[in-house]
Amino acid sequence: MEIKKIGVIGAGQMGAGIAQVCAAIGKVVTLCDIKEEFVDNGIVTIKKNLERSVSKERISQHVMDETLSRISTSLLTTDLKNSDIVIEAIIEDVDIKKALFSDLGNICDPTTILASNTSSIPIGILAEASGRPSKVVGMHFMNPVPVMKLVEVIRATGTSDDTFDMTFKLAEDLHKVPVLVNDFPGFVSNRILLPMLNEAMFCVMEGVAEPEAIDTVMKLGMSHPMGPLTLADFIGLDTCLAIMEVLHKDLNDDKYRPCPLLEEMVKGGKLGKKSGEGFYKY
Ligand code: CAA
Repeated sequence: MEIKKIGVIGAGQMGAGIAQVCAAIGKVVTLCDIKEEFVDNGIVTIKKNLERSVSKERISQHVMDETLSRISTSLLTTDLKNSDIVIEAIIEDVDIKKALFSDLGNICDPTTILASNTSSIPIGILAEASGRPSKVVGMHFMNPVPVMKLVEVIRATGTSDDTFDMTFKLAEDLHKVPVLVNDFPGFVSNRILLPMLNEAMFCVMEGVAEPEAIDTVMKLGMSHPMGPLTLADFIGLDTCLAIMEVLHKDLNDDKYRPCPLLEEMVKGGKLGKKSGEGFYKY
């Protein structure tokens, strides 16, 4: 079966990016969120990205209009009933995601694949909540989605060959490079990346160096495109904390203890770029 209709739940930076790349290859996309304002912001982000591509003469105005015309928005998950695949990209909270997968299991056609873009939560937990584990898979995109090539395709114990193969093929059709990863907390990307970001935060907390200095060390010394603290602000400090908490709890090892400075900043509403302040001001 070819995937033609795609539901994306969550119109934040990840969901909007996923909706954009899917529509760009001709898929019919429904972008769903809980508030009108959220879906509107998602569409604004997509328009801005496409306009940049038009201004750089990478795509024509006609292609931009066609891409946008393939994206509709909704506040109701029931509108995703007939989707071939639903890709979830909501807040990184295990209970909220479990409730959503349980709803999707009831709402969607039995053939619908349910994919999660979770950054760290084991797919098996969501698969169980859905009541249709063979149809559940992880599809972990990187931020910014239109730019980054990688998609981790996470295979849980119950994921069927068919579900895995179709998801892997969809990632290839999206001009991404899918990589098979088994179902462990944080997968590969965030199991390795987040402890590094967390360690950079410990360096700030302990006064090893100023944020700018830490970022410069990693950019110029290790050729990272962004320093770890800029990247943490870019990902969102609430998301970074949620991932560290999953690693800490599920891998049961204190080496994953979230940096207290990170916890304090999130409590104080400093969430990085999206809130206007994190390790830097925006
Ligand atoms: N959305 C869409 N496109 C974007 C973008 C965004 N938010 N930000 C930058 N771009 C595009 C730019 O338009 C530009 O495109 P063109 O080549 O068409 O001009 C291109 O990306 C390069 O951008 P810039 O020249 O402005 O800046 P840059 O060279 O510094 O690149 C970057 C920006 C691609 C974001 C680069 O800094 C980078 O690779 N950073 C690291 C990103 C990263 O590590 N992502 C993974 C995060 S972890 C994750 O996502 C997993 C998780 O679960 C938390």
